[in-house]
Amino acid sequence: MRRPILAANWKMHKTGAEATAFAKAFLPLVADAGEVDIVLAPPFTGLVPLAQTLGGSRVALAAQNVNPEEKGAFTGEIAPSMLVEIGCTYGIVGHSERRALYGETDDFVARKAAALLAHGILPIVCVGETLEEREAERAFDVIGAQLRGSLAAVPDERASEVVIAYEPVWAIGTGRTATPEIAQEVHAFVRKQLAQRFGAAAEAMRIQYGGSVKPDNVDTLMAQPDIDGALVGGASLDPEQFARIAKFESSGE
Ligand code: PGA
Repeated sequence: MRRPILAANWKMHKTGAEATAFAKAFLPLVADAGEVDIVLAPPFTGLVPLAQTLGGSRVALAAQNVNPEEKGAFTGEIAPSMLVEIGCTYGIVGHSERRALYGETDDFVARKAAALLAHGILPIVCVGETLEEREAERAFDVIGAQLRGSLAAVPDERASEVVIAYEPVWAIGTGRTATPEIAQEVHAFVRKQLAQRFGAAAEAMRIQYGGSVKPDNVDTLMAQPDIDGALVGGASLDPEQFARIAKFESSGE
């Protein structure tokens, strides 16, 4: 069975001190969570303070971005080895905000995912259609192309280490969650695409849903057969809310 993965994407929120305060409040709340992976992705400056607070706990650390190069003249960028040094287990790549605001292409995302894997960090590869694309009935074409492009450099034997996050752009930060039926339909499609690319390993690959996941909708989303987790923005900023999400109903079964 796939182990559920609930990840907090804090985006550009929380200073190091605020991250530490969150972790101190959060850890006791999830001490009795079920057999799930719980992940926090703070801004880069929060990684070190969080690593110190989370050290030895059940909560893992993720970066929100990475540069695929080892080192060099890339002002403002962070290399995979720097994330390894801090103790990052996961790295988010290809978030729709980075694709839309910073022009990241599938090819660049593919290089990031491969670089993370090469350093032993598990990539969380984000895909998802805009409202315009959904209304034009192009969602599956768009997601299929993003998957093919973004996973192009993943070695077959490493597939099970990759997490996919399906995040419909129209549901991010809007309070407009995809219905469990819509999300499941896309997740089943994603798994079919993964099977075409990676064969049987697709069954072991975790697919998160993201887009206005909240304590009051996580249970029905997580009950869908192909939804293996959540990537949570807004509701992950509050320790109580994110703890409730990590302890979604049926997580303890
Ligand atoms: P949201 O963000 O939960 O605030 O919609 C999700 C994401 O962008 O990862």
